[in-house]
Amino acid sequence: MREEWRTQTGFVLATIGSAVGLGNIWRFSYVAGESGGGAFLAIYLVFVVLIGLPLMIAEFALGRRGGGDVVQAFSAASPRWRGAGWLLAAGALVILSYYTVIAGWVLKYLAGALSGTLWTAAQTGYGAYFARFIANTGEPVLWQAAILLIAMLVVAGGVRRGIERLNMWLMPLLAVIVVLLALFALTLPGAGAGVRFLLAPDWSVFARPDVYVAAIGQAFFSLGVGMAVMITYASYMGRQFRIPVSATAIVGGDTLFAVVAGLAIFPAVFALGGNPAAGPELAFITLPQIFLNMPFGSVVAPVFFFLLAAAALTSMVSLLEVPVAVAVHRLALGRRRATLLAGGLVFLLGLPSALSYGLLADVTLAGQPILDAVDRAVSSMLLPLGGLLVALCVGWAANRAVVVAEADLPDAALARLWVWLLRVPVPLLLVVVFLRAVGAI
Ligand code: TRP
Repeated sequence: MREEWRTQTGFVLATIGSAVGLGNIWRFSYVAGESGGGAFLAIYLVFVVLIGLPLMIAEFALGRRGGGDVVQAFSAASPRWRGAGWLLAAGALVILSYYTVIAGWVLKYLAGALSGTLWTAAQTGYGAYFARFIANTGEPVLWQAAILLIAMLVVAGGVRRGIERLNMWLMPLLAVIVVLLALFALTLPGAGAGVRFLLAPDWSVFARPDVYVAAIGQAFFSLGVGMAVMITYASYMGRQFRIPVSATAIVGGDTLFAVVAGLAIFPAVFALGGNPAAGPELAFITLPQIFLNMPFGSVVAPVFFFLLAAAALTSMVSLLEVPVAVAVHRLALGRRRATLLAGGLVFLLGLPSALSYGLLADVTLAGQPILDAVDRAVSSMLLPLGGLLVALCVGWAANRAVVVAEADLPDAALARLWVWLLRVPVPLLLVVVFLRAVGAI
């Protein structure tokens, strides 16, 4: 029997759970920090509305219409597009492989904050603490396996009993936590500089092309479009659910979450003299130091790392569901076996990333450690490519009347605008980003 979400709220919360993840907290804060803050945020918002929202609606329409896994979704739209489905399913495995490794680091920090070992580590500094941890061979792999197992248990539980149920209680809780953290950070003396950094644009940043590329990559990553997750989740959506309402709620919710997380992180960073442009290590080196120096830090730290771990988990679950759905439909496996197969693949694929600062520290790709290179390739090449395929398939290859009816936009002018965005501006922009990423322009 086909699985379906129990309620529209459950579907929306599960998709917000997919969208809200390490991308909103860890990645958004470090990318915004490196890319100049307020100006980055403005560019980011424009891309979210112009590219993210139309693509999300396209993925929903494609997925619900197909009514199965991602391969079926593409071949139902146009038989010649079947291969795109396989490509996106493989892409989801690649993203999940390194995402799981970082989620594992978060779990380790959560355990450290709860047990108190995170505080004793302070004597040698968090730079050394973090470097020692990731240079280790066994430990990162152990934490990677631990969080992957939790995600596998949820996915094996099924769409309603596993995925929907987890998100129904976890997502509202996370919203409360991030708001409380922001309110607390805003009371710190000197918090104003952090708020200004995030919200007031520095105009010179608009002239930096790399900021635009970073903003598109971040928008895709954070919304979770471009890698078939939304296609797969939409395939479990009933006819009566409204696609435009859901997509707007998800895009708005995800963006709001990133901004509020920024309002928790930057005021704290500025109030306690951290460097906002610290890069990926912001959450793992800069923030723990801040927690240590801040009033009530021993309470805030476990709450923050719980937020990060739980947000990562709900995103992992959604990414894992993509290959699991493919295995269930294409290989006729039961859900449990499909989960074991996909989870096993994710673990193996993730090993090079998990070991990229330890055993494999000497191996570099394009001059970077393996994990960093994979993250870069995913956000600036794989996701734009996936988005391009979705836009071209829905905008050009599929039957226009069918996709417009499926997307169910409230009026004909909006529907025309949507199709036009998918046909021309979105592919053009994505081609530019892709060519830039591969160094062609
Ligand atoms: N959006 C998630 C985050 O912000 C990660 C994620 C989930 C994702 N599904 C995706 C990224 C699909 C790219 C494509 O952390």
